[in-house]
Amino acid sequence: MRLEGNWSYPTSVRFGAGRIAELGEAAKSAGMARPLFVTDAQLVATPIIDRARETLAAAGVAVAVFAEVKANPVAANIEAGLAVLRTGRHDGVIACGGGSALDAGKVIAFMAGQRRSLWDFEDIADWWTRADPSGILPVIAVPTTAGTGSEVGRAGVITDATVNAKKVIFHPLMMPRIAICDPTLTVGMPPVITAGTGMDALAHCLEAYCGPNYHPLADGIALEGIRLVKDNLARAYRSGGDLEARAHMMAAAAMGASAFQKGLGAVHALSHPVGALYDTHHGMTNAVVLPYVLAFNRPAIERRIARLAAYLGLQPTFAAFLAWVLELRRELGVPHTLREFGVGDDKIEAMSAMAPKDPTAAGNPVPINAMVCRQLYCNAFAGELGL
Ligand SMILES: NC(=O)c1ccc[n+]([C@@H]2O[C@H](COP(=O)([O-])OP(=O)(O)OC[C@H]3O[C@@H](n4cnc5c(N)ncnc54)[C@H](O)[C@@H]3O)[C@@H](O)[C@H]2O)c1
Ligand SMILES: [Fe+2]
Repeated sequence: MRLEGNWSYPTSVRFGAGRIAELGEAAKSAGMARPLFVTDAQLVATPIIDRARETLAAAGVAVAVFAEVKANPVAANIEAGLAVLRTGRHDGVIACGGGSALDAGKVIAFMAGQRRSLWDFEDIADWWTRADPSGILPVIAVPTTAGTGSEVGRAGVITDATVNAKKVIFHPLMMPRIAICDPTLTVGMPPVITAGTGMDALAHCLEAYCGPNYHPLADGIALEGIRLVKDNLARAYRSGGDLEARAHMMAAAAMGASAFQKGLGAVHALSHPVGALYDTHHGMTNAVVLPYVLAFNRPAIERRIARLAAYLGLQPTFAAFLAWVLELRRELGVPHTLREFGVGDDKIEAMSAMAPKDPTAAGNPVPINAMVCRQLYCNAFAGELGL
């Protein structure tokens, strides 16, 4: 292993219950006088958005609301938001919601002053250097789920409906200026979203921790993130109003995304084609495929996982960790197979071709190709861990 890398953890996070009250002042301190408030079509009708807008009004910050964002946002959502942003001459974006609304808001702000098309900025090689940095507007991120960690990330995941693929749009300046992480905003998440988003945070920490690159900062954050998931996800799932569990999960989500600067792996590589073709929830899809990938990666990660298991207070073995993951999935009602999840097996060939090309595939500790992915999808349909 080469002991070298590029590390960066600079997001300014205002963390704590009730801190949504600081949104108006935060917008002003980020230099916004008339931001566009981006959220999703379901959340816009909830009291969460009323609270956010009240604090902006109290600080004298006028906003327009754009809520035409679907779960798993598509390019048309970005184009519609851009039109509103440009017509209204907005000077920043407040992105409020789950990963879908956060990603859409970040990408709209990024595209504000670009002259090239969205897909020219896909996270491939150094394509991000094509962007004009002076055309990127500032973002304040307000997460309402605890999973993606998009509030501290430099990317947005947008579906390209013309080719049915999830694509990552990346630029270092896409990182929000300020993230307001207020766990009270997550208490209304339905249990199934709590489970799916929480498992996304786990997948981020775990894939980062297992990745082959040298990044001890990420490894440390990922370890503690997994401990927070272990101690709090089932609690938050069982009692949504448990603010302490909600706070720890919100921290774990931000930690997952901080850690995955190191890279992700085959859980995400297999999950993205499923999400693109079947419009499934991202985190829940990860939760379904995770143990199959874990079992496949075993030869490369056995010692690392034993160390993780020891830190978690389990028997210091791979088997103990895998058993804990399976038990957590059961507690959270995660389907054991893609079939039980409602995914058809008619597109295995197409998905097996897509998965190794996903940008996350390269971070898997064991190299994957279409044949491996085909086997992993078959395992995930059959419920066979393949150990
Ligand atoms: N940028 C990144 O680094 C990154 C990382 C992982 C995932 N993602 C992307 O994020 C998206 C998934 O985000 P997500 O898992 O947060 O889900 P989401 O944003 O798609 O939201 C899922 C559902 O939960 C609802 N919801 C959100 N907050 C709620 C609340 N507090 N109370 C009640 N309902 C609420 C939403 O309205 C929506 O219907 C996917 O598109 C995925 O690809 C991005
Ligand atoms: Fe994810």
